[in-house]
Amino acid sequence: MVWRWYHLGMIVEGRTERLVLRPLELADSAQIQEVFPRWEIVRFLMNVVPWPYPPDGAEFYVREIALPQMERGEAWHWTIRPARAAETIIGSISLIRREVDNRGFWLSPEWHGQGLMSEACVWINDFWFETLGFEVLRVSKAVANTTSRRISEKQGMRLIGHGEKNYVSGRLPSEIFEITRDEWRAWKAHLY
Ligand SMILES: CC(C)(COP(=O)(O)OP(=O)(O)OC[C@H]1O[C@@H](n2cnc3c(N)ncnc32)[C@H](O)[C@@H]1OP(=O)(O)O)[C@@H](O)C(=O)NCCC(=O)NCCS
Repeated sequence: MVWRWYHLGMIVEGRTERLVLRPLELADSAQIQEVFPRWEIVRFLMNVVPWPYPPDGAEFYVREIALPQMERGEAWHWTIRPARAAETIIGSISLIRREVDNRGFWLSPEWHGQGLMSEACVWINDFWFETLGFEVLRVSKAVANTTSRRISEKQGMRLIGHGEKNYVSGRLPSEIFEITRDEWRAWKAHLY
């Protein structure tokens, strides 16, 4: 295992059956810029994502936002890569220390519908609860984002609230889900 220690936080490379989750680096910006700016990816992300996406959008995000968050121990960001072609970035997944929206993810559309993000989330949830030691994970999703909501529902998260949020595609109804560490452990025990 390769551990990288930051000022307050820590991050480690993740491996699942089909994926490598590699800690985000500045050198990833060019590939992210190629893959990320697509409507299917951004429409249900929070409107902090600039749209249309500027030519230096990925580099600005990685250098000015994501890496400083990691250095401050506020967030943990990984690129998602196929285990068989680990040089290729196909998505990203993040954990963030705050009240709600502790986890965010996107995957390149060519790779959708194979259970890959569900697979990544199992490793990531373990990291949140067992490595970082948090007691609850909360996420919010646009109600219209059926695929993303399905991942939360099938991995044992409970619906705890409704609201509205500003997404790249506009202000939309949203739902908040949560799972505690004990619930996550019970869900995993049921899985195996
Ligand atoms: C959300 C996202 C990461 C899902 O990735 P993925 O690898 O395709 O997801 P998975 O295959 O692991 O799981 C998707 C689940 O949703 C289900 N699903 C997909 N489309 C669906 C639909 N229209 N209605 C109901 N269920 C649907 C799948 O069947 C699967 O559930 P299952 O395992 O029970 O069959 C991907 O769609 C994405 O990148 N979207 C754009 C970014 C985004 O919205 N991120 C989340 C912000 S909250």
